[in-house]
Amino acid sequence: MSNRFYVTTPIYYVNAEPHLGHAYSTVVADVQNRFHKLIGHETFFLTGTDEHGDKIVQAAQKMGLSPKEYTDIISEKFAKTWPLLNIRPDRFIRTTDPQHIKTVQMVLQKVFDQGDIEFREYEGLYCFGCERFLIERELVDGKCPDHKVAPTRLKEKNYFFLMSKYQQWLIDHIKSNPEFITPQRYRNEVLSFLKEPLDDLCISRPVTRLTWGVPLPFDSNFVTYVWFDALINYLTGLDYPDGQNFAKFWPAANHVIAKDILKPHGIYWPIMLHAIGIEPYQSLHVHGYWKIKDEKMSKSLGNIIRPKWLVENFGADATRYCLMREMNFGLDASFSYDAFVTRINADLANDLGNLLSRSTTMLHKFRQGLIPPERVIEGPQDDLRHHLSALVPSWQKLMSDFQVHNALQEIWKALNMANKVIDTTAPWQLAKETTKAQLLDDVLYCLMETLRLSAVLVSPVIPEAAEKILSSMGLDPAGELGPSGLSWGRLKEGAKVAKIPPLFPRIGPSKKEAQGAQIHDKAKKQKGGKVEEKTASNQGLVTIEDFQKVQLRVAEIVSAEKHPNADRLLKLTVKAPEERTIVAGIAEHFSPESLVGKKVIIVANLKPVKLRGVTSQGMLLVAKDSKGLHLLEVSPDTEPGAKVS
Ligand code: MSP
Repeated sequence: MSNRFYVTTPIYYVNAEPHLGHAYSTVVADVQNRFHKLIGHETFFLTGTDEHGDKIVQAAQKMGLSPKEYTDIISEKFAKTWPLLNIRPDRFIRTTDPQHIKTVQMVLQKVFDQGDIEFREYEGLYCFGCERFLIERELVDGKCPDHKVAPTRLKEKNYFFLMSKYQQWLIDHIKSNPEFITPQRYRNEVLSFLKEPLDDLCISRPVTRLTWGVPLPFDSNFVTYVWFDALINYLTGLDYPDGQNFAKFWPAANHVIAKDILKPHGIYWPIMLHAIGIEPYQSLHVHGYWKIKDEKMSKSLGNIIRPKWLVENFGADATRYCLMREMNFGLDASFSYDAFVTRINADLANDLGNLLSRSTTMLHKFRQGLIPPERVIEGPQDDLRHHLSALVPSWQKLMSDFQVHNALQEIWKALNMANKVIDTTAPWQLAKETTKAQLLDDVLYCLMETLRLSAVLVSPVIPEAAEKILSSMGLDPAGELGPSGLSWGRLKEGAKVAKIPPLFPRIGPSKKEAQGAQIHDKAKKQKGGKVEEKTASNQGLVTIEDFQKVQLRVAEIVSAEKHPNADRLLKLTVKAPEERTIVAGIAEHFSPESLVGKKVIIVANLKPVKLRGVTSQGMLLVAKDSKGLHLLEVSPDTEPGAKVS
């Protein structure tokens, strides 16, 4: 990997105000930006707003404003939201910026001059939500799967970008660059799309129908907008063609998007770049959707969580932490207020917060708050020392691969190990015996150094807390948050450590949802749900009608992990065919790894129930005998979601 890193978010449409979905992509980009800076890379981080098109004109009209007045207001809301979450882009771009319009026109002229654009009549199915023509096989029940509206049949003369001639080049490029689109499932999706001949891309609208776009430089009767306009922001952001940033940061471009805009980014964009003679971007990183009650969060569905509300309830760091920890990058996740509270209390208030306060309290009690010398003596604290050194390279690999949720899990294993070191070495006992003074030095040193190094590792996700921890140790965060801060043993003997107030106070049951937050978290009403691994009634006979009430389906286990708050439970993500979380009481019988990829049978219509803070949407069926539990597996070629009858 080069030592330069350019990260972008989608530029968001200004027809809606920022919500949790936008916040997630932007936090992912900010975390990556901070991580790459931390490992010594030179970075550039771009976000912004997409301001042309029908949707924007309609939204402005509704508010009685001109498109420009309207876009100024909403764009500013996006720009002002990101600092609330400690997101620090290097540039905020707007597609209405004159510089951007000039760049788009320059690119259009170039591809037009080289014969990649053609004028012709086209009739097709247009989705105003997606702002593109859809093809029949993309529709579900005759409707756009994302906007749930039937597309409109349109016939008009327009300009087309001739993509098909670059199709084979793109297939070859994706095949020879495994990291070009990640995670793999999205790379496969694009490759499978490319098995069919590509349609050419309609890039214009007649000004008779729409003026709110970039005028075509070669025909003033038309404007271009949406994809040809929007994607080029990634170049304007670096002052393409002559800017220093372009020379520096292209092609080290890493685009973060959700799966809704995979096709434009995985197909149109690399082909556009190739056509204008620019190297393709380095990597496209595609994540899933935040859902509420199994629906994607979006304005059109009216189930919105606002970033400002999250920050008011949880704080910036805790929100960032939960966003990163609660979503496996690439898969969908469900938002739940209670799951965030449980996560904050368990991981941040307990594991991290308690470790810091216990360790500093003991340091003050037994060593006047001064870092003792590192003695390097055998014992649990020595295992911790080795564990932390080994953690750094694996953390770096996971973070580089956008596996932030796994990187956090690894850091938390270390924090828990440190908490156990306190329990097993019992420093308060060591302090009573003069012969144990050196061992006590080493234990205290290892605890404080674990906290320091963990603060550095976790700083891309919770920067405020990390800086507070480092400052409390008398260190300058600016100096520590760089490659040199990543090695074990930086705390020096005699350094004074200050006691600080709790970093993450526990969120009690009283601090419930703020008024007006539009959360439809049905599971919340089912407080105190218990693990029910058996069907409700197994007494007596059932009728066929009784049995038919239970929907059994085949599910594929796509990921499995230990339940954060219960040793006997596993948290499974299954596809059936939609993604859902199932909590199963099988941790004593199966390791999480052994379950991934298995096709099993689930009860699909069980009322969601919260099991130790995680909402379970279904039940896994197992057989039990004297040897233990056995999965009810089905043949591997059964499709996830198949009904079992
Ligand atoms: N303007 C285009 C993007 C052009 S990029 C050259 C657009 N805008 S959008 O406002 O609809 O933003 C879509 C993006 O917002 C998604 O790709 C994702 O980054 C984020 N999300 C919007 N809703 C989301 C969820 N419910 N969950 C996760 N991310 C979501 O498309």
